[in-house]
Amino acid sequence: MRWSEERRAKEHMTTFTIRRLVATDYPALGRFFEQHWGEAKMVVHGNLYLPHELEGFAAEADEQWVGLVTFHHTGTTTEVMSLDSLRIGQGIGTALMQAVADQALAHGSSRLWLETTNDNTHALRFFQKRGYTLAAIRRNAVEEARKIKPSIPLIGYHGIPIRDEIEFELLLEHDQRPTTNV
Ligand SMILES: CC(C)(COP(=O)(O)OP(=O)(O)OC[C@H]1O[C@@H](n2cnc3c(N)ncnc32)[C@H](O)[C@@H]1OP(=O)(O)O)[C@@H](O)C(=O)NCCC(=O)NCCS
Repeated sequence: MRWSEERRAKEHMTTFTIRRLVATDYPALGRFFEQHWGEAKMVVHGNLYLPHELEGFAAEADEQWVGLVTFHHTGTTTEVMSLDSLRIGQGIGTALMQAVADQALAHGSSRLWLETTNDNTHALRFFQKRGYTLAAIRRNAVEEARKIKPSIPLIGYHGIPIRDEIEFELLLEHDQRPTTNV
């Protein structure tokens, strides 16, 4: 990158802060899900989750959400239910996942995990580069999810048919910080 391009890129970088979602955020969270995921509820591995059943962090710039992550704890595992960055390539996704990993460690979780779909090549790259490993592939699982949430499209990123769920995990070490920073 030439110096002038580098300077332009830096000038357009978003300064954002990360904050925990609170109860008054849930109506906005429902609207966010509707806008970005088709409905105000999430369907993950055949289970349905409403906004108020989830915890989350928002990335904010000028009091607007520029990124959002939601998650929930089950025993000693923490599952990420959604991750969205509205300003790609500026560190927002990484910062949100770091916040969840820190929270999971504080909660006492030993495993942080999530599912994405076979078409999501950006996510496959993003998570692997941040230390997550492939834990499972559930072939045709999206067909089942569509029975609960018919709005899930047939075709996803790059024109790829959305069929399979891919599970990623990060095993958390309690004596060191998580490896989500690259
Ligand atoms: C996956 C997703 C959350 C990533 O969010 P993001 O904000 O672009 O993530 P980051 O900016 O932290 O990292 C993305 C890239 O930008 C780079 N980047 C990070 N900070 C940067 C900075 N300050 N300046 C320029 N680039 C930067 C990173 O190095 C990374 O590249 P890499 O994958 O080669 O390492 C985003 O693409 C998204 O919202 N996708 C749609 C929803 C989705 O797929 N969610 C995940 C599955 S549930």
